[in-house]
Amino acid sequence: MSGKTTEIKDPENMSAEPRRFAFDYSYWSHDQFTENSEGYLEPSGSKYADQKVVFDDLGRGVLDNAWKGYNCSLFAYGQTGSGKSYSMVGYGSNKGIVPIFCDELFKAVEAKRINAGADEEYQVTLGMLEIYNEQVRDLLNPKTISQKGGLKVRQDPKKGFYVEQLTSCPVNSYKEIDNKINEGTRNRTVASTNMNATSSRAHTIVAITFTQKTPNETGQSMTRTAVVNLVDLAGSERADSTGATGDRLKEGSAINQSLSSLGNVIKALADLSTGKKKTVVPYRDSVLTKLLQNALGGNSKTIMIAALSPADINYEETLSTLRFADRAKAIKTTATVNESPTDRLIRELREENARLMEMLKQGGLSPEMAAALIGGAGGAGGNNSANSEVEEMKKQLEEQVRKNQEEMENMKKTWQERMQENKGSISANMEEDNKRQEDRKVIPHLWNLNEDPALTAMVVHFVNEGTSKIGNKKASPPAEITLSGLSILPAHAVVTNKNSNISIKPMEKAKILVNGQRIIKDTQLHHNDRLLFGANNMYVFHHPQDEAKNIKEGKKTETPTFDSAQEEIAQKAGLMNTEGKSADSDKMQDMILQEEVVQMLQLVNEANAMSEELDKKVKFEVALMSPQARGLKDGRTAVMVKMISQVNNNEWMWDKNKAINRKSLMQEIYQDFVSGEENWDVPKEKDPFWEPSDQEILIGSAHLHLMSLAHAFDIEETLAITDYKGKEMGHVKVTCKPCTKDYKDLGEDDFVDEPNEMIGKDFYFILKLENCRGLPPNIAKSRCKYKHYTDDKFTETNEVESMNPDFNFEKKYKQTPVTEQYINYLKDGSIVIEVWGRQKGDSNAGAPSNSTVASKGAKPAANNATQQKKPDNKVNNKLKSTPAPAPVPAPVVKEDPKIAAELDSYKKRTNEAEGKLGSIQDQIAAKRKNGQTTITIEELEAMLGGNVNHTRNENLGENTSKACVIQ
Ligand SMILES: Nc1ncnc2c1ncn2[C@@H]1O[C@H](COP(=O)(O)OP(=O)(O)O)[C@@H](O)[C@H]1O
Ligand SMILES: [Mg+2]
Repeated sequence: MSGKTTEIKDPENMSAEPRRFAFDYSYWSHDQFTENSEGYLEPSGSKYADQKVVFDDLGRGVLDNAWKGYNCSLFAYGQTGSGKSYSMVGYGSNKGIVPIFCDELFKAVEAKRINAGADEEYQVTLGMLEIYNEQVRDLLNPKTISQKGGLKVRQDPKKGFYVEQLTSCPVNSYKEIDNKINEGTRNRTVASTNMNATSSRAHTIVAITFTQKTPNETGQSMTRTAVVNLVDLAGSERADSTGATGDRLKEGSAINQSLSSLGNVIKALADLSTGKKKTVVPYRDSVLTKLLQNALGGNSKTIMIAALSPADINYEETLSTLRFADRAKAIKTTATVNESPTDRLIRELREENARLMEMLKQGGLSPEMAAALIGGAGGAGGNNSANSEVEEMKKQLEEQVRKNQEEMENMKKTWQERMQENKGSISANMEEDNKRQEDRKVIPHLWNLNEDPALTAMVVHFVNEGTSKIGNKKASPPAEITLSGLSILPAHAVVTNKNSNISIKPMEKAKILVNGQRIIKDTQLHHNDRLLFGANNMYVFHHPQDEAKNIKEGKKTETPTFDSAQEEIAQKAGLMNTEGKSADSDKMQDMILQEEVVQMLQLVNEANAMSEELDKKVKFEVALMSPQARGLKDGRTAVMVKMISQVNNNEWMWDKNKAINRKSLMQEIYQDFVSGEENWDVPKEKDPFWEPSDQEILIGSAHLHLMSLAHAFDIEETLAITDYKGKEMGHVKVTCKPCTKDYKDLGEDDFVDEPNEMIGKDFYFILKLENCRGLPPNIAKSRCKYKHYTDDKFTETNEVESMNPDFNFEKKYKQTPVTEQYINYLKDGSIVIEVWGRQKGDSNAGAPSNSTVASKGAKPAANNATQQKKPDNKVNNKLKSTPAPAPVPAPVVKEDPKIAAELDSYKKRTNEAEGKLGSIQDQIAAKRKNGQTTITIEELEAMLGGNVNHTRNENLGENTSKACVIQ
C-alpha cells in the first residue's frame, strides 16, 4: 500500500514489476499495531490504519449522505478470513463501520431531537437478512429462519426487488440497534449450526432505513428517506484455486450463485460505463443482485471495500479481488435525494392501492403489471397463463397492497406511536441481554465456538444450580438446554451444578467429546474445557469462580479458539503430532498436511453424521496417500477421504477438492431435510453420498525395479499390489525380457557386466503383464496401467472380468541408442504398475441385501513375491558382481509414517472402543429394564473383553476398577 495505490507481487516471480491498482483509498492493517488495555488495536507504526481511520474516510461519508436523503450501500468483498466482518462489524472494542455508523447516527438524531419541533421526526428502522444457497432468511425473525425455501423475493414496479414480510424493526437508540444486530447474529449462528451450513458462504445484509419528517419553508411536511445497505458478502474464494474438482456432480454451493452473478453484474455495469451501449445487466440471475439492484447500478451512493489477505499462498485470490475491485471502480451510480411532501407520498400509496384492489376484484391483470410482477417471464395476460401463475400474481398483488398499507400507516403514525407498539418486545429483549451479560460474570456457562469468528461466543447456555438436561427440540419434557444440529439426541446429556462443581454425563449413545476425548460417564468440567456435542456443536465451558481462582494463583489459561479445539480433536485421534503446528517451523509441508488433516477430519465427522441421519448407508474415513501410492515418484502426501458402502464394503477414494464439493452438496440436502422439505432426497445420479460401483478405483500399485534390465537379465516377478496404506491387495505377474532387434531371445553370452557398456548401443525388450491373482473379492473387473521412462501417457491393458484376471498383455520396447540417462533410469528407476478395478454390485443406495460382502483384510498370507527371478546357473557368477536389487518398498506414506501408522491404529482402537461402548450401553439398558442398578467388575470386564486397562486408558481416559452405579 502506498498512498491510494495497492501493489502486488507474484511470490513466485519477485523480480518482476509489481502490479499496481489505484483506488480511492488503500489501507494497510496487517502489522504495525498494538493492543491497548481495552483491547483496541492502535497503530504502532505509520502504516497501520485502525478502525477509526477507516470510519472517518468511509463511514462518515455514508452518514452525511444518509442525512441528505441519499440511499447508500457499502459492500465488503474478499476471501474468507481477509477482514470483511472486521471492517463491517468489527470485534469487541474494535468496532467496525456498522456499529460506529449507528452510534454516530443516533448521537446526531438525539441532538436534533432536543430542539425539534412537534412536526419534526427522525425514524430509524432495521432489517437484517442472510442469503444462503439462494434462499433468503430473515435474521430478526427466528420463526422463519428454517422455513423451507426461505422468504420470497418480490418486485415492486417502482422500487424494484424486495423481500416479502421481512421484519423492519423500529429502533430508537444505539443500544437498541446493537441489541437487534446481536440478536440477528445469534439467530444466524443457531441456524447455521442447526443446518450444518458453512457460514462463509452466506451474504449478510443489514439494511437501515433512516426517515426524516421535517417541515419545509412553507410549513409543508416533507419526508426524506435513505436506505443504507451494509453488505458483508460471502467469501470470494473459489472451491479450489486450481479450478475444477473433477467430480461428476455439479459444484455445490461452494460456487456461490449470488457471488458469481455479482461478478457478472459488475462486469456488465463496468462495460456500460465505458460506453458499451447494448450490455444487458443480469440483475435477475441471483437473489443478491436482485436485492442490490439499486445499490449496484441505480439510485445509491455505493462504496466497495475489497479485503485482502497478504500471505503468499493467497496471491491468486488477492489478485482476483483487486481485479474485481478495479472493475467495480468504473461503475457510476446516479443517486438522487429521496424527498417528497409527506401528503403526496401517502396519496400516491393510497391511489396505487385502490388500483391494485380494483385489479384484484376483477381477477385480471394488465399486461404491463403482470410483466412487472413476474419479471417479464411467462405469458403476461391472465387468460392464457397457467393457473398457478395467476395464483402467484394474485398473491403478489395482495402482498403489495399489504405493504403499501403498512407503509401508509407508518407514514401517518407518529414515531412515538410506532415505538410504543414495539416497546414491550424491545425492552424485554434489552433486559434479557443485560441480564445475560451480568449472569456471564457469575454463573458457569457454555459459550459457542464457530469456524467464523463473527459467529463465535454468540450463543450462551447457563449451567444453573441443580441438574439440567441437554437435548434437541424433540425432547419431552423440553430440555433446559436446547441444542440442535447433527447427531444431537432428544436426551443428549445431563449437566449438574452442585456447589459450583460442574459435571456432564452423556445419555445412552450420545456423542460428547471433552477436550478432544469421548466421554461415557459423568465427567467433571473445568474452566476453558472444550466440548463437542454431536458432530458440530462446539462449546467452551466458562467457570467464573475457577477463572478468578486461576487468576489469583497466577495460572493463565489460553482462551480456546475454534482452530485450537479442532486441532486437539485431530491430535487425540492420533492424526497429528502432539506438538501440533509448532512441530518444526521449517516443515512447511508438514504444517500444510496437518492443517488438511484437521480440515478433512472435521469434514469426515460431519459427513458421517449426515449419512447416519439421512440413512445413506455409507461411512467416511480420512486417508493419507503417499505419492508412491498415487503412482508418483515423489511429491507430498495427499489427504483423501474414503467413502465405504456399509452394504457391500465397496470403497471409493475422493481427493480433497472432491470431498469438499461433495460435503457442500450433502449440506444442501441436509438443509432441505432439516427444514422439513418433503422431497429432500435426490436421485442417485445426483446424490453426493452415491458413487456408481462401476466407477474405476485404484486398487493399489506395484513397483517393478528395472536394475536387471541394465545388465540385460530377464525379470520375472510376481509383485505385491499394495494399497495406499501398504496393505496387500493381491499380486501381479510381470516379465521383462531383453531381446534381439527382431525381438528374439538373446544369446547366452549377451549379458552385460557393466551397464554403462550399453550406452550407444541399441536395446530391445518385451514387457509382459500376465495376470493378477488374489484381488479383493468385491472387484469385478480390473486392468493395469503404467508408464515407461519418459512416457506421457499411460499404457493400459484390457479390462478383464475376473477376480483372477489374465491380461496376456505384451508390449515391445526399443531404446536406440541407449543413453546415459536411460541407463540411470534402469539402474535406479522403477515402473509403477497401477491396478485399477471396478467393484461388484450396486453401490450404497438400495444395494441388494444379499450382495457379497468383501473382507479385504482376510486374505491368504502371500508368499514373498517380490524377489527377482534367479537367473540360470550359468549367469549366476556374473550376477554376484552386481548389487542385488532392493526389495520393492511398499508404497506406504513416506513423509510421515508415524501419521499413517497412528491413523491405522486409531481407527482400530476407535472401532474396538465403539463396539465395547455399545455393548456396555446395551447391558446398562438391559439392567435398568430389570430394575438393577449395579454392574460388577467381572461383568464390566466381560463386556470389555478382559482388556479393561488398555481400552479405558487409551480411549476413555478413565480407569475405574470399582462397581459402577447406574444413576
Ligand atoms: N484490520 C485488521 N486488524 C486486525 N485484525 C484483523 C483485521 N482484519 C481482520 N482481522 C482478524 O482476522 C480474522 C478474520 O477476519 P474476519 O473479518 O472475520 O474475516 P472475514 O469476515 O473476511 O472472513 C479475525 O480474527 C479478525 O479479528
Ligand atoms: Mg466474515
